[in-house]
Amino acid sequence: MTRPTTLPHSRPQAWATIREAFGNRLGTSIRPRIAPVLRCLALVAFLWGLAACGSPALQASTDYQTVAPSPDGIGRVYLGREIAQTMGHQGAGWLDRPSRALQERPQAAIAALDLAPTDIVADIGAGTGYFARRIAPLVPQGKVLAVDIQPEMLAMLQQELEAKGIENVEPILGQIDNPNLPPSSIDLALMVDAYHEFAYPREIMQGVVAALKPGGRVVLAEYRAENPLVMIKRLHKMSVAQVRREMAAVGLEWIKTDDILPEQHLLFFQKQA
Ligand SMILES: C[S@@+](CC[C@H](N)C(=O)[O-])C[C@H]1O[C@@H](n2cnc3c(N)ncnc32)[C@H](O)[C@@H]1O
Repeated sequence: MTRPTTLPHSRPQAWATIREAFGNRLGTSIRPRIAPVLRCLALVAFLWGLAACGSPALQASTDYQTVAPSPDGIGRVYLGREIAQTMGHQGAGWLDRPSRALQERPQAAIAALDLAPTDIVADIGAGTGYFARRIAPLVPQGKVLAVDIQPEMLAMLQQELEAKGIENVEPILGQIDNPNLPPSSIDLALMVDAYHEFAYPREIMQGVVAALKPGGRVVLAEYRAENPLVMIKRLHKMSVAQVRREMAAVGLEWIKTDDILPEQHLLFFQKQA
């Protein structure tokens, strides 16, 4: 007796064929023995499917689309926006350029944060800590958690902290999809010229939301995409509408958009209290 090579069209036919092929050789019908095993397999498959639906990897695959990369992009699209390439540590000098104070008015951005002395601030995508170092004296009873994925950036930050004797800035090595911040620990998450280049923005923001205390704030500074006179590469700028869409996607409530900076939007969001 040879095994059937094609599937029968209906279940009774199939069982008949299987019985013919194997059951009779065993001297008994195998259907009663196989049925519970098949039911078990089906249950395992169903439970595995449920578990997979909840896994970040599967969710991530539906959050992002892949396209041919633009010259300054990574070819991954999130909510209609192609994500920009990460600025390498080789360009760190640009972050600390002396002209930045006049060109971008970072002190005005810091004043607008309205910080309390006890605040715990996470500067995410901190780079060399241009903002973290300037915020530190404003939170003497709090601290700044300076998160970046490039150890070289954090090494430059550490050098500056030691040179200036700043003790309330804590460098944290993040992952591309995880800011590595403790849950319910921060009052404010600040992202200056950084969010647009997070390779997994949804996962990073989910980590940020989890790290915020109830009522905690998120502030983003992003170059204005709506203004062609802002001489920054296309994917390194963001529109107000796009930032609001992406923050709403992780449940953050928009508070206000300040237009006090010469080239950047300053957007404020809040986690529910
Ligand atoms: C253009 S720099 C801005 C640095 C700083 N915020 C400033 O304004 O001087 C962007 C920084 O974001 C960091 N970055 C990119 N993806 C990141 C991620 N997923 N998590 C944390 N930092 C990230 C980069 O390594 C880089 O240092």
